[in-house]
Amino acid sequence: MSNYNIKHFEEYFQIYRKSVRDPELFWEEIAEEHFVWRKRWDKVLSWDFSKPEVKWFEGAKLNITENCIDRHLRTKGDKTAILFEPNDPNSPAEHITYKKLHERVCKMSNVLRDQGVQKGDRVCIYLPMIPELAIATLACARIGAIHSVVFAGFSSTALATRINDSDCKIVITSDGSYRGNKTIDLKGIVDEALEQCNGVETTLVVNRIGSDIAMKDGRDKWLQPLLDQAIPHFEPEIMDAEDPLFILYTSGSTGKPKGMVHSTAGYMVYAAYTFKNIFNYKEQDVYWCTADIGWITGHSYIVYGPLANGATTVMFEGVPSYPDFGRFWEIVEKHKVTQLYTAPTAIRALAKENIEFVENHDLSSLRVLGTVGEPINEEAWHWYNDNVGKKKSPIVDTWWQTETGGIMISPIPFCTPTKPTYATLPFPGIQPALMDENGEEIKGNQVDGRLCIKFPWPSIARTIWGDHQRYKDTYFSAFKDMYFTGDGALRDEVGYYRITGRVDDVIIVSGHNLGTAPIEDAINEHQAVAESAIVGFPHDIKGNALYGYVILKETGESRDQDNLRKEINQIITEHIGPIAKLDKIQFVSGLPKTRSGKIMRRILRKIAGKDTDNLGDTSTLLNPEVVQEIMDNVL
Ligand code: PRX
Repeated sequence: MSNYNIKHFEEYFQIYRKSVRDPELFWEEIAEEHFVWRKRWDKVLSWDFSKPEVKWFEGAKLNITENCIDRHLRTKGDKTAILFEPNDPNSPAEHITYKKLHERVCKMSNVLRDQGVQKGDRVCIYLPMIPELAIATLACARIGAIHSVVFAGFSSTALATRINDSDCKIVITSDGSYRGNKTIDLKGIVDEALEQCNGVETTLVVNRIGSDIAMKDGRDKWLQPLLDQAIPHFEPEIMDAEDPLFILYTSGSTGKPKGMVHSTAGYMVYAAYTFKNIFNYKEQDVYWCTADIGWITGHSYIVYGPLANGATTVMFEGVPSYPDFGRFWEIVEKHKVTQLYTAPTAIRALAKENIEFVENHDLSSLRVLGTVGEPINEEAWHWYNDNVGKKKSPIVDTWWQTETGGIMISPIPFCTPTKPTYATLPFPGIQPALMDENGEEIKGNQVDGRLCIKFPWPSIARTIWGDHQRYKDTYFSAFKDMYFTGDGALRDEVGYYRITGRVDDVIIVSGHNLGTAPIEDAINEHQAVAESAIVGFPHDIKGNALYGYVILKETGESRDQDNLRKEINQIITEHIGPIAKLDKIQFVSGLPKTRSGKIMRRILRKIAGKDTDNLGDTSTLLNPEVVQEIMDNVL
C-alpha cells in the first residue's frame, strides 16, 4: 500500500491509523520516496509544545526548488508548469514550461545574488499575480533568502510595517497592476512605504503596465534589463531542513501582524502530499487555485504543492467580474481546468449573477472542486455542487490556516463522502481535539468545542518572526500541550468536523483574516474619534462584514456624519487596505463595558447582527443603559 496516493475510504482509515500510531515512520516513508534530498535526515521529529519547538527531518539538506523544478526537467521539461492567464481576456495566456521556469528562476536568482542578497536575508515581494511573483518567490528559495510576500492590496502603511518587522533589505515590485478595467499604482504605494523603511537598499521593478513612474536614483532598478544580462544557471543553495523558507504575515486579534515563519523540509513534504491527495492530482491535469500568492493558499497550493508534484498550475491576474461574471467559467473552458479551488465569498458573488454566465461555458473538464478560507454556507455549497460540479465533482471543503502551512481537515475526493458545510475528516498525520472552556478534551461525537491539534505535523509554523514568546502565548498557552487554532468546531455523529468560525477577535471578511485591534487603532487616529469597537455581522457575499461603533470626542450635531464615515474608511484604507473598510458605522455615546473596562463585544456582535432577542447576561455591565441606546439606533 502506498501511503502517498490514497484511493478509497477504507485505505484512508488504514493510512490515518498508521499516521497516528507511528507518525515518524509514516512521514519518513513519504519523505523518502517522493523528494530529492542532498543529505538524509538524522532524526524525523523532535518536539515539545511547551517551549514550543518542533523540528522535522533534522539534519537533512535540500533545496525546495530542486524538488519543484530541477527534478522534473528530464521527464517534464516541456510540460507547462505555470499557465498564466492575464487580466485582459484578449491578451494571450502564457505557458511557462518547466524548462523555461528553471531558466527564469535561475536568472532571477542571479539578479538577486548580484544585488547582494545572501542566504537568510529577507526579501519583500509586493507584486500582482504575474509570473514574476512566482518566479521571485522561487528565486528566493533557490538562493536561500527568506521571502516575505505581501498581498498587493495592502496599503503603504501595512507594507511598511511588514517590511520593517522582518527587516527586508530589498523589495520586488512592479510599476502598477491591473485590476479589471482599473490600474493600481503599486510603485507609488511602495515609494510611500519606503519613506518609513530605512533598511531597504534596493527595489527591483517589473514593468507591468507601462506607466510613467518615478525611479529613485541608486535605489530603484528596472528588473528586465538585469534579467536580460543574467545567466540561466544557478546552483541552488543547500539548505538545512529547518532553515526558514518564508515569512507570511497574518492578522492577530491584537497588536501588529504576526510574521509566521515556515521551515523548508516539513513544509515541502506536507504541501506536496496534501496537494496530491486533496486535489486528486493526475499527470495531465490543469489545476487552478484562484487565490493570490500573497496569501498562504497561494504559497502552498499555487506554487509549492503543485510544482513539487510536477503539475500545471494556473495563475490568474484578474478578478471574477471582469470583463463580466463569466470570466472564471471562460477560463475553465479555455484551459480545460480539472481542479478549481476557490473561496466561498467568490462562490456567493458568482451565484448571485445570471446562471447563464455559468451555463454558457463547457465545464465538463472539472473533476474536483475546492473551497477554503471561511465556512461555506449550505446554499453556496449546493450552488457550487449543482451548477459548477454538475453533482459529479466532489467538493473538498478544506480547513486550514496560515499557521498550519497546509490543509488539515478536508475530504479526500472520491474517498470521503462529502457533507455540505463539513470539512469532514482530518488528513493523515493530523490529530484534532475539541476542548472545553476548562481546558478538558471533549471526547465522543455530537459535541462542539475549541479546535486544537494535539500532535505536530510537518508544516506547522515554527515561530513568529522576532517574537517567539508571542507565538507561545497565542497558540500554545490556552490549552496545555496543544496547538490552539482560534476556531470553534463541532464533531457530528460520525466524527465529521464542521468549522463554526473564530472564537477570538479575528473576523473573516471575504476570506481575509482581519484583527479588530489594528482597525480600531487606525480609526482612533482620526482626530474626532475618542474610542471605537469593531465587530463582524453576517453578510450575504462576504460571509462577514465589519460594523464599527464609534464614540466621538465631541458629540455636537454639527458634524456631517456621512463625511465622517468616509474619513474613517479612508483612514482604514490608508493604514490597512480597502479590504478592512467598514460596511456600517454607528456613532454611539458609549460602549458596553464590564466593570474591569473590557468592551463586551458579544453584545455588540448581537446588536450588529440584529439578533437581540437574547442578549445574555448584561448585569455585570458598568453602563447597561448604553445598550438600549445602541439598539435603538442600530443601522
Ligand atoms: O477561521 C478559519 C478560516 O480561516 C482561518 C485561517 O485564515 P488564514 O490564516 O487567512 O488562512 C486562510 C486559508 C487557509 C481559520 O482559522 N477557515 C479557513 N478555511 C476554512 C475556514 N473556516 C471554515 N471552513 C474552512 N474550510
